[in-house]
This record gives sequence, structure tokens and C-alpha cells, in this order.
Amino acid sequence: MDTSPTEPRELKVIAIANRKGGTGKTTLSVNIAAELAALGRRVLLIDLDTQAHCSVGLGLKLSKDSITSHSIFKNPELSLAAAIHQTAYERLALAPADPLYEHGEGIRDNTILRNALAEADISQHYDVVVIDTPPSHDILLLNALIAAHWLIVPYVPHPLSFEGVCQLTRVLFKIISGSNKKLKVAGYLPMMVSDHIRVHRTIKDKVSQQFGTSKILPGIRSDILLAESFAAGKPIRYYAPKSRAAEDFAQLHGFLSNLCP
Ligand SMILES: Nc1ncnc2c1ncn2[C@@H]1O[C@H](COP(=O)(O)OP(=O)(O)OP(=O)(O)O)[C@@H](O)[C@H]1O
Ligand SMILES: [Mg+2]
Repeated sequence: MDTSPTEPRELKVIAIANRKGGTGKTTLSVNIAAELAALGRRVLLIDLDTQAHCSVGLGLKLSKDSITSHSIFKNPELSLAAAIHQTAYERLALAPADPLYEHGEGIRDNTILRNALAEADISQHYDVVVIDTPPSHDILLLNALIAAHWLIVPYVPHPLSFEGVCQLTRVLFKIISGSNKKLKVAGYLPMMVSDHIRVHRTIKDKVSQQFGTSKILPGIRSDILLAESFAAGKPIRYYAPKSRAAEDFAQLHGFLSNLCP
């Protein structure tokens, strides 16, 4: 375990996105946030998806009138810091989503989140922000991509999921050539993968040909314990530390440390 965070680090922002639903975005967001916290980083996980599943995955129960990550899109006076809850896990905080937020409501500004993250309350208290995004192409996704330094794209190696990756890439090109030139794709991460399944191998090869072998990250194998851990409100490293999913997340330590040195 890296236990040497002696100097303040520059805040790094990692968005997790794919236009296709059900590709493991939330599972990945919660678990890489937990891995980064275990690696000594002070982590803020921001849930932008109104399904609000990050709260479930971290076992956080919220009252109806809690301030949420979506509050800053409705009320520019509110600071993101007001939405942050400490979780049961050391160095891991969550700005939860508002399940009642209606997509399209609020202020039409793609830079709300980037501006919120620049506030001293955030940039001085956290080393890394992980953003879970909704599968929709809307102002919330654009806010995440405009605020981020890094993008990780989880995909299930199925043909439709590949289509979702390609759709996201088109959005990405626009952002990188316009409003956020510092955004980089950290990698494409196969989720629920099994190399015994031929279509998984075929789609992984297609992604690799399209985006470059160096961008393909070690995958997270299919493991029902990961779904169970989510329902139990615990990241996999705490719920089933000897499981193959926990092993796969541990394989990402070098990669994650490079993103947030
Ligand atoms: N490696 C895995 N092995 C087994 N089940 C998994 C794995 N990864 C994710 N799942 C399960 O797949 C389902 C979809 O995952 P998840 O909710 O993380 O996807 P998502 O992309 O966030 O979905 P949405 O687009 O609806 O937000 C969940 O039931 C989750 O528990
Ligand atoms: Mg999700």
C-alpha cells in the first residue's frame, strides 16, 4: 500500500462514462474510488446519475432533504462542499445524487462542475475526484467531461456496448478539440469479461484496433460477489477481499497511481 502522501497533490479528476447503460460505470466508480482511498489518496466520489446507486454501493442512507451533487445545477449559490458526506471508509467521501432531479432541469451551463471543483473547499481537501456519469448525452455528462483530466470507459465486450464506446468517442472529440483540451482517455476497461467467450475476445480486439492496444486496461472478470458487495453497501476489497473481482481491482493499482501521482 502506498502510504506516503506527504506533499499536497494537484487535484485530479477522473470521469467514468459510456453512452450505453449497464456497462459497469457505477460499479467501477465506487470500487476505484475505494482502491484510490486505500492507496492513500483523499477521494471524493461524485454521483451525477439520478439512479443514485453510488449511495447504495457505499451503504450511505440519505434523508429526503439532503443536499446532493445535483443541487449545484439548480442553485448556483450552493457550494458542492455542502453536498459531501463522509462514508464508512477512510479518506472516501461521497457527493450523492438526487433521485428526484429531472434531466434537463436547472441552469444550462456546461462548466458548473468544473467551477465547483475549483473551489478551495474541494481542491485543498481532496487529491482525486471520481465522477460517475449517467448513460444519457446531456448536460450532466458534458459537465463531467469538461471538469475531468482523465476519462475511463468501462465496456462490456458485447457488440452494443462497442457502439456505446464509439458514440462516446464522438462526443469526446468535440470536447477535446473545444472546451476541455486537457481531457485524456486513460483507458477502455472491459467489465464482466470472460476470455472463454469468443464474442468477448472479438470485441476486445475491435476496441484495441480502434483505440490502440496501449489504451486497453486489464479487465474486471465477471464475479457475482461484485453484485453482492454492491447490494451490501461495501466496496469489493472490504466485502470479499479474496474474490477474483477484488484481485482484478488490485491489478489496477499501478494504473490508478499513475493517474493520481
Ligand atoms: N464484473 C462484474 N461481475 C458481475 N456483475 C457485475 C460486474 N460489474 C457490474 N456488474 C453488475 O452489472 C450491473 C450493471 O452494473 P452498473 O450498475 O455498475 O452499470 P452502469 O453502467 O452504472 O449502469 P447504468 O447505465 O444503469 O448507470 C449491476 O447489477 C452490477 O452489479
Ligand atoms: Mg450507473
